[in-house]
Amino acid sequence: MATNDPTTQTLAQLGDGTPEKVVARFDGVRHEFDERAAGASSDPETWKSFVVQWTGRKSGVLSQITDNWLKPAPPELKKAVGQELNKLKAHVEAVLEEKCKQIEAGAEQAAAARGQIDLSLPGVEHAIGTRHLIYQTYQELERIFLSIGFSVVEGPEIETPYYNFEALNIPEHHPARDNMDTFYIHGARGGHLLRTHTSPMQIRTMEKEKPPVRIIVPGKVYRRDNPDSTHGYMFHQIEGLAVDADITFCDFKGTVEYFVREFLGPKAKTRLRPSYFPFTEPSAEVDATCHVCGGSGCRVCKFSGWIELFGAGMVDPAVYGFVKYDPEKLSGFAFGMGVDRLAMMKYGVTELPVLTQNDVRFLRQFP
Ligand code: PHE
Repeated sequence: MATNDPTTQTLAQLGDGTPEKVVARFDGVRHEFDERAAGASSDPETWKSFVVQWTGRKSGVLSQITDNWLKPAPPELKKAVGQELNKLKAHVEAVLEEKCKQIEAGAEQAAAARGQIDLSLPGVEHAIGTRHLIYQTYQELERIFLSIGFSVVEGPEIETPYYNFEALNIPEHHPARDNMDTFYIHGARGGHLLRTHTSPMQIRTMEKEKPPVRIIVPGKVYRRDNPDSTHGYMFHQIEGLAVDADITFCDFKGTVEYFVREFLGPKAKTRLRPSYFPFTEPSAEVDATCHVCGGSGCRVCKFSGWIELFGAGMVDPAVYGFVKYDPEKLSGFAFGMGVDRLAMMKYGVTELPVLTQNDVRFLRQFP
């Protein structure tokens, strides 16, 4: 620092110490700063040390003024010194910032002139993520069912055997429990389990709500399957349930047909095949005409013309007993769809694992 460094003197040396003198003293500092800043070198290192000289935390000029002028100032001068110091700080910061910008701009221009920066290069693209294919499929399914008065509810992935099995008319030792290859938690059969389907939410919803009920339930389900190209130990389902005073099999069929046309296109036809689920009676497997060949037969539909979509049926009256609904007065239907399957079928994906591997080369195909 130069020998005439204004900050090495204390405020006491201002003599009679009037506010006017304080102002004059700060004017002097400001003037000196302006001169030095104007003449400062724009070489990065020299510039950096100039900045530190003035704004450095410990021994920068501004800190020294705070320590030597402001702190020991007599009460009647404190205000004037404080105000002047704030003004000086703002001034110094503004000038330094402006000069910084100039230096940066100058450096860029110089680099461009030396040919180091090609200003004609396109900018850097920041890729924006997209929704996962499964999520997109859920959105599509929800759109269809919301449009006909269903609402979305969600439920726990950790369930009790009561909700996952018993209240769905699957008593202990019923063979349907074995088909479900359940993950039990803590190894105890009486304890908790990972839900094997979204159907427990049928029970939870009817326990809580009075009819009419019209819900869909998106969610993850778990089964002890050996992973292969079409099986995983976790997959996605969407459950549907409609219960009201006089819902008929016709309502069921109409809803299913509407869904298939919305999901696969207006030309898709629907077929119901008899099936079995403990919690629906009668039960059906819903097929649609193959979306690839339109029903004439191809490799995708194994030359049958039909694709299996999901399981469904009229709610078994035994289920109403568990939720204290009156089976004499109520009826309804339920369905449970495998969302991964539907997505793979609709978008021509042949391997299930790619849905969970998060390979961007796959994900980017579904913007
Ligand atoms: N929960 C059954 C399954 O996971 C599907 C289903 C739901 C069938 C509702 C009928 C009614 O296989």
